[in-house]
Amino acid sequence: MWGMERESFDLPEGFWLGTSLSAHQAEGGNFNTWTRWEELPGKIKNRDQSGDACRHWELFEDDFELLRWIGANTHRLSLEWSRLEPQPGQWSNEAIHRYRQMFESLRAKGIRPIACLFHFTLPIWFEDAGGFENEKGIEEFLKFVSRCQKEFGDLVSIWLTMNEPVVYALAAFGAGLTPPGKKDISLALQVVSNLFEAHGRAFAILKNANPSYQISLAHHMRILSPERRFWPLDFLFVKKADAIFNWSLLHFLNTGEVHFQVPGICDLKRRVPEAVGALDFLGINYYGRDYLSFTPLSEEKIKLNQTPNHLDVKTDMGWEIHPQGVDKILHGIKRYGFEKIPLVMTENGIADHDDDLRSQFIYEHFSNFLIGCKKYGLNAKGYLHWSLLDNFEWIDGFYPRFGLFEVDYKTQKRLPRKSAHYFRGIAEKKCVFKPIPG
Ligand code: GCO
Repeated sequence: MWGMERESFDLPEGFWLGTSLSAHQAEGGNFNTWTRWEELPGKIKNRDQSGDACRHWELFEDDFELLRWIGANTHRLSLEWSRLEPQPGQWSNEAIHRYRQMFESLRAKGIRPIACLFHFTLPIWFEDAGGFENEKGIEEFLKFVSRCQKEFGDLVSIWLTMNEPVVYALAAFGAGLTPPGKKDISLALQVVSNLFEAHGRAFAILKNANPSYQISLAHHMRILSPERRFWPLDFLFVKKADAIFNWSLLHFLNTGEVHFQVPGICDLKRRVPEAVGALDFLGINYYGRDYLSFTPLSEEKIKLNQTPNHLDVKTDMGWEIHPQGVDKILHGIKRYGFEKIPLVMTENGIADHDDDLRSQFIYEHFSNFLIGCKKYGLNAKGYLHWSLLDNFEWIDGFYPRFGLFEVDYKTQKRLPRKSAHYFRGIAEKKCVFKPIPG
């Protein structure tokens, strides 16, 4: 589709190959800030509610068999804080036991678990006390991290302190699209910097507990382009947005410093010494490209367009497929001097119900990742596909189908898509190869 010179690319020795899922999107039966949000009218497409989701909480054993079938050697999941600590200080033995079973089951199948400690959902009591808006929230989160290490640290040796801190803060506190639904850019950036600090300190806690742990976070990176190519304000705005969205985290991990300066909105500085070098690998979530416009005199000053009209091929959500972006992102990462840091694509995937595009999508992105890492002298360590199963896609509800396995939500049956066979082929051959069309 996008024309490449070679057609197959060997996986490096010791490569982490597998999938990613998050608790709330798959487990079912959760009660957290999202469950509450889903009850409000107009928040989720088709008024969907996560409800039973994929009933992964009960069916995890079968689901992990699917992982074995596709030949995964790594699987990323998240720990649902609201299950583990439903009331402040009161931990659920049942939830602890279940997550331990999950980790044991993965390990018994030869699959290394990666545990993420915060993937968008929070206990209601935590959010109502201010959540990550304040310092107290950071302390509370660190207590949670420390307890998780004690409960699961013998079974888990790879940790993500959090998923997409910048996306979380901007969506929840800037755009108001996700809980708690606030619309205040300055507050959103304050939350980003609180989360960065939380990451640095969580890293230190985990590392002190066991220096052999491999710890990172999953950072969402996107290509941002101006909506109107000849409009200077769009250009300037994209530059600023790119610096904050894609690169402020890398700068922070290099220097321990955050500096968000947005004229008329905020000038925020913070130093977190323990954050310098607080990563053993870098987790990158990559999906594609967005278009941004900035019109200061209009009511809605900033517009984010994820569904451009001009494309022939797009995902079921209207997103652009932009595998070339992987190269640009890797080029940027090199500029930050991350040559020695192993890179793991912690998410990459497509909403594609009919599975017409998924195998090609995987091929293009995965091979660009391997090619780009070689080209820039970076260390490609892993590729985790989003996702093993169809699941609850946040404000878009259940219609986007991201799974290598289709989920029939009525019967909870899982059916392998063609792309699941393709993924299995990658694992078997230990190389990424061009899928056969059709
Ligand atoms: C995110 C999350 C996932 C999504 C996935 C598909 O990027 O929003 O990490 O939870 O489901 O990215 O959009």
